[in-house]
Parts: sequence; structure tokens; C-alpha cells
Amino acid sequence: MTAPKSVVARVKDLRAQLDEHNRHYYVNDAPLISDAEYDKLFRELGKLEAEHPELVDTTSPTQRVGAKPAAGFNKWTHKVPMLSLDNCMSMDELEQFDARVKKLLGDDAPVAYYAEPKFDGVAISLIYEDGRLVRGATRGDGVVGEDVTLNVRTIKAVPLQLSEKVNVEVRGEVYIGHAGFLALRDAGVMNSAGKPFVNPRNAAAGSLRQLDPAISAQRPLAFFCYDAAAQEQNEHDNKWHDKWMARLRVWGIPVCPQGKVVKGVAKARAYYEQLLAKRTKIEYDIDGIVFKVNARELHEKLGQHARAPRWATALKFPAEEATTQIEDVEFQVGRTGQLTPVARLTPVFVGGVTVSNVTLHNIAEIKRKDIRIGDTVVVRRAGDVIPQVVKVEIDQRDKKSDKKNDKKNDKKKLGAIKLPEKCPACGSKVVHESDTNVYCANTDKCSGQVRRRLEHFAMRAAMNIDGLGEKLIDMLVEQGLVNNVADLYTLKDKREALLKLPKLQDQSVDNLLTAIEDSRKRSLKHCIYALGIREVGVSTAMMLARELGDFATLRAADITRLTELPDVGEIVAQRIREYFDDAENKEVLEHLCKELPALRARQSATRKKATP
Ligand code: IVH
Repeated sequence: MTAPKSVVARVKDLRAQLDEHNRHYYVNDAPLISDAEYDKLFRELGKLEAEHPELVDTTSPTQRVGAKPAAGFNKWTHKVPMLSLDNCMSMDELEQFDARVKKLLGDDAPVAYYAEPKFDGVAISLIYEDGRLVRGATRGDGVVGEDVTLNVRTIKAVPLQLSEKVNVEVRGEVYIGHAGFLALRDAGVMNSAGKPFVNPRNAAAGSLRQLDPAISAQRPLAFFCYDAAAQEQNEHDNKWHDKWMARLRVWGIPVCPQGKVVKGVAKARAYYEQLLAKRTKIEYDIDGIVFKVNARELHEKLGQHARAPRWATALKFPAEEATTQIEDVEFQVGRTGQLTPVARLTPVFVGGVTVSNVTLHNIAEIKRKDIRIGDTVVVRRAGDVIPQVVKVEIDQRDKKSDKKNDKKNDKKKLGAIKLPEKCPACGSKVVHESDTNVYCANTDKCSGQVRRRLEHFAMRAAMNIDGLGEKLIDMLVEQGLVNNVADLYTLKDKREALLKLPKLQDQSVDNLLTAIEDSRKRSLKHCIYALGIREVGVSTAMMLARELGDFATLRAADITRLTELPDVGEIVAQRIREYFDDAENKEVLEHLCKELPALRARQSATRKKATP
């Protein structure tokens, strides 16, 4: 069926109008019509396309989502590698960068830089042919990335069609703004490990790399372009980075409106300080300023080193800080029984997330920083690093609080923060190992410790049991289905009981049981780490597996043998022995060894020969 000319014309007109409005909304940040009016045009186009499928075109604004979920992403080799950036951590380092540029150019005149924020998102490459978006790929290792074309098509800020039929490869950052991030959190959207996203960058990365583009489409992903390579050189526009960015905007590509040319390092500094001051007011996370030599023809002359260009640098912002109050301090029991103080804060937005709890690590830390309940404190959060209390604003401390604290300040009370007498999880009397260390000695029966040990066991770096998160563990322990890590391997015979747990349906039970079965294949180093022996982290577990070869040797190793190993001192050796000598651990290990082949395997013949 061929559509009447009037319909063809209307479809064309609607697409042009919608593209134009997208441009005003995403590129100029100045919409001309309301969302409702936009929706009306969009629906009219959708209706006409449904009535006349022969008119459907992949660049139509209605065609952002269409394909089925993929089995995996294809690899994509970048035509030109996607470089990274060198960082400057201070103004001094920026001056050194500027001096290097001048030296390389052999010219002492002030250098003009294009300055713009460093967006904290995921790097992306977009390829346009004849003005049509044909490919979207992640950075990957810089040489080979993943083909995420179907996912980037769902990002409304990414034009499917440019205003001119050009061939151009656009590079930029896909990100999620603060409002979008908070909306995701409020809607209870979780990451692939079943936990809330920790920050907008992780949310952007997780949302872009969805095998089902329909899921990406529901995520508030946004996009800014920061560079592009055109196949046909457009002499005039290509010469200067700012002109080139302006040209890209004309084609309909979103470019950050904060970008501008600054001449010389003093102006660069002023730009940096101005943006740093308004950083918290910007709607998306930025972690510094990128300075690029504005004369693009000099880029080739300046070249690159390692995997970063010599014509650009990022001057990083200091970690974000905010001031708030400590409302209370509670103690949490960890997997080794240690009680850790956690401050409950008046919620504060810092580093892209709302922080309401912060670990105070241990009593020594509380003493050192003199932290008391009611104090006004400075909280810092940088990237993925967990938030921390930097300092107490002593001059803002309530005088009464001081008095009250002095009176109570005996051996077991620090300011208003009292060391607990009982374990908060199981209620048994705590043991004071030292002035700064308190632990619950009810190792095997304390439900708090059992839960933490299960959480540790399931971690990605340990047994990698996807889906076994905090909430599920709580239910399994509460229902008495699991009392120790070995019990996880008996769950396959308790399917009926699992299905009775709230919110656990057939599919999730199957997924959980499959993940548990898969974990049987984990190697020795993962199994050792998973046991959660005090002082045995990922690298020590790896070393123990490598040096000792099999689990039986590790179990039998005495203190002398253990201290002969690289980086193992008295304390680590003692912790390892304590773990294996504990009666309850011995029993759990009896069961676990039956379930996990890596714990039963004996050192291979080749290995025996290699080790004297
Ligand atoms: S320019 C040749 N400009 O930072 C390198 N990069 O740490 C061109 N980034 O992989 C990069 N905002 O993904 C540039 N305004 C900006 C940026 C930016 C964020 C990312 C980019 C790059 C990473 C390097």
C-alpha cells in the first residue's frame, strides 16, 4: 500500500518538527513547546506510522526502541583509539602543563584553551553516516569497545539524524543528572547485583549496558559531546575547537553550554574557580575541568604520550564536602564479630548522593577526631570511595554537650558515644579486646555475624553468588534455612521452603539456585577469600592459594610455615590458625569441603615438582 501524498508530507513535517523541538530541548536547553504539546505531535506521528508501516524509517523520533534484547554486546574496534586524559591535581600542576605546552610549541605567548566541565559519566563514540546515526560504542579499553547502538538510540539527547548529511564520529559522555538519579533511587531501581546504584556515574554505566534496550530507554540518560572527528575536513570550523563545537551544535549535537575559550593560565584558573564555586548547583556530577588547546591544528604537533594527548588535561576538583549533624551513633557487628560504630547523620547531599550513615571505623578514630553525638561535622565523599567524617566543627559544639560528656567520660564512654555492653545483633555480652576494640564473642550463634559472613561469601570477589543480597540473607537466616555458609549448598533440596519466602518467585528461586550451583566451580583463591578469615583479603587469599597449592596444606600449616610466606606476619598467621582451630569452623569446613571441589583438590604433580 502506498500512502497518500498528504500523509507522506505530514509524516515528513512531523518528523522535522519533532527533531527541531528535540534540538531546542537538548541542544539549546530552551524548549519552545510544552511536554504535552510535544507528546501530541509525537502521538500523531506514531499513529500515521502505524497506519502506514511502509513510511517507518530508523531515523524517525518514534523509532528509538525496537529491537529485542541481545545475547551479549558485539565488540567494536574504534577507528581512532579513544584516549584518556592526564590529570592535574593542583593549580601548580596546571601551570606545569601549560609550561610544557609552550615549550613543545616553541612559543611563549599565552595559550588559548577550550575549557569545559569534566562530566562524570561513561565515554561514548557515535558514528554518523550521511547524517544518520549508524553506530554507538563504549570506550572499552580505548581500542576495542562494545557496540551499544541500540541502547544509545534510546537516549533522547542523542540525535538519530543530523541537520546535515555529514560523516562524523562524535565523542562524548553519557551521564545521568541529579534529578534523574534521585528518581531512579526513589523508584527502587537496582543495579545488576540487586543493590541501589551508588552514584549517577554507576547508574549511567549500568543503564547504558543493558542487553534489553527497552530498559535503557526507561533510564534518564543524557549526553554531552566533547570532541569529534569529521571525515571530510571542514577547513574553517575544524581549525578551532570552539568553532568546531559550535558547528556540531548546529548539526543538532548537544554540547555543554559552559564551554568557553580562556587565554593563558590565569584565565584558566579563574574559570576553574568559578565552576568549583557553583559545582553543587550544577544539575549533573562534574569532577573537574578539562582544558584543551583550542587550535586543533596544534594537536598533531603536540601529539600524545602513553594513552593521553599532550594537548589536553583535566584539572580535578577536590573531593566534595558538606556539613551536617551527627544524630546518633550505633554499633554494627561485622563478620568477624568486631563492633563498628556507624554515625547516623542528618541526610546531606554530597558527591552525587544523599549520605545519611557514615562509618566511624573504630573507637580510635572517634577518639582521634573527638566525635560526639550532636556535633556538626564535615563529611567528604569522592567518587566511589565510601563517605567519611573529615572533622568536627568544634566551635559549633554545644557547650552543654561538653559538660555532660566530661562527667560521663569514664573508661568505656567516649564523649556521648558509649561503647555497647551487649552485641546489638544477638545481645550477648561484648568483649573489650583493647581500649579501642570491642567484639562479640558469640561467633557461631550471633545472627549478625552469620549474616555478614554470608554476605561476604556471596561477594563477586568471593563465590560470586548473584542475587544473594542482604535482604534475602536476612530472610534465609530468620527462617532458619541457613545457619552457615555450607548450608547454602543444601538449599537445592529446600525449594518448597524457599518459594514460601515473601517476594521470592519461581524465577528468582531458580536464579538463586543456579548461582549457588555455579559457585561450586570457583577456584581455590576465591574459596579462601570467601571464608572471611580475619586479615585475609583478596591478595592474601591469592598468595595463599599460589604458594600452598591446595587447601589441605593451608589447613595444616603452622605459624612457622605461615610466617615464611610473603607478607605474612605474626598477626596474620595467628588469625589464620585461630580460624582453622575453631571447633565450629572445623565443622562448617567438613561440610564445605564436600561441596566445593577446589577445597578437595590436591596439589598437581607439576606444581609439586616446581616447588622444592
Ligand atoms: S576530552 C583525547 N572532555 O574523561 C581525550 N573528556 O579521564 C578526549 N571526559 O575518556 C577527552 N568530560 O570520557 C574530554 N569535557 C570532557 C570530558 C571528558 C569527561 C572523560 C572522557 C575521557 C575521560 C578521561
